[in-house]
Amino acid sequence: MKVAIFNARGYDRQFLNAANTHSNHEFIYFETGLEAKTAPLAAGCGAVCVFVNDDLGAETLHKLSALGVKFVTLRCTGFNNVDLPVAAELGIQVARVTAYSPYSVAEHTVALMLMLNRKLYRAYNRVRDDNFALDGLMGFDLHGRTAGIIGTGKIGRIVAKILHGFGCRILGYDPYPHPDFESLGDTQYVGLPQLLAEADIVSLHCPMTPENHHLINPETIAQMKPGTMLINTSRGGLIDTPAVITGIKSGQIGYLGIDVYEDERGIFFQDLSDTVIQDDTFQLLQSFPNVIITGHQAFLTADAVSQICATTIANLDDFAAGRPCKNAIAAP
Ligand code: NAI
Repeated sequence: MKVAIFNARGYDRQFLNAANTHSNHEFIYFETGLEAKTAPLAAGCGAVCVFVNDDLGAETLHKLSALGVKFVTLRCTGFNNVDLPVAAELGIQVARVTAYSPYSVAEHTVALMLMLNRKLYRAYNRVRDDNFALDGLMGFDLHGRTAGIIGTGKIGRIVAKILHGFGCRILGYDPYPHPDFESLGDTQYVGLPQLLAEADIVSLHCPMTPENHHLINPETIAQMKPGTMLINTSRGGLIDTPAVITGIKSGQIGYLGIDVYEDERGIFFQDLSDTVIQDDTFQLLQSFPNVIITGHQAFLTADAVSQICATTIANLDDFAAGRPCKNAIAAP
């Protein structure tokens, strides 16, 4: 089957081509993202393969449908970028990668915590400049600290396990508690207000839904301990960024580590080093010494990407063979 692959980077081509050896789908790679104005690139294709920030809103889906596209397969787990009711109306089936190495994201989460706490970004630059002064590099022991995990699914539970290894006490909040969580070691479910009041580190591991948009907002920030470390490797929209900036300025938030940003579309996944970024909020965040931003790379391990690509090929195989696709997203 002929498939238009959007937002394709070198690693996508490498791992998708490797996974496609036996299936022989015909891939047409586009570096550009999918949106209404780029949808015509999919002409002649039965399916499109997209990533986390591609825009599959109503306008794009209508254009794809008019071209005869009947299948969308996402190279990610989240699908908040797809208008599922419109896809269903148009008879476009949507599939995703339901699971891939949760260790990739969990380990990156802990890397952000360590980098922020021990100020490794400052230390790295100083030492390269032969500056071996230690002022400004003071951290804190993770041992004995309390971490709050919001969302105790696959990734959140692995973060909890790793932090348990450091000797942290772990509080979890999840509207759908997982039976394993409280047996991971020094782990306990509490309500969100208690988690925010007691945690030294708050780490977000829930999907973004209309209900939890801006879960971190002026009210929840006010409930945190002064100087809290806030980590978000889930979805940018979970955080009200201007409110977090106010919290950083007042010291209520002592550290911020993010791999996702609410308005990351148009910024992340490309080299903008020669341009002036117009997003003032993002630029302000970048200016703080206690903020680390990575560009949505938490998933980027060879293990995770090869699993993502293998599942994507299986999804395309199912669709091409007219079989029910086990990773299809049910229409709401
Ligand atoms: P999962 O589905 O295994 O777990 C999510 C958990 O969040 C579930 O237990 C659910 O009950 C809980 N939850 C739902 N709404 C909640 C709320 N309002 N408050 C607290 N908990 C809530 O998902 P998984 O695999 O652990 O992934 C977590 C998130 O990580 C994904 O939704 C995605 O946004 C993000 N992610 C980020 C990546 C990156 O590269 N930065 C890559 C992959 C996932």
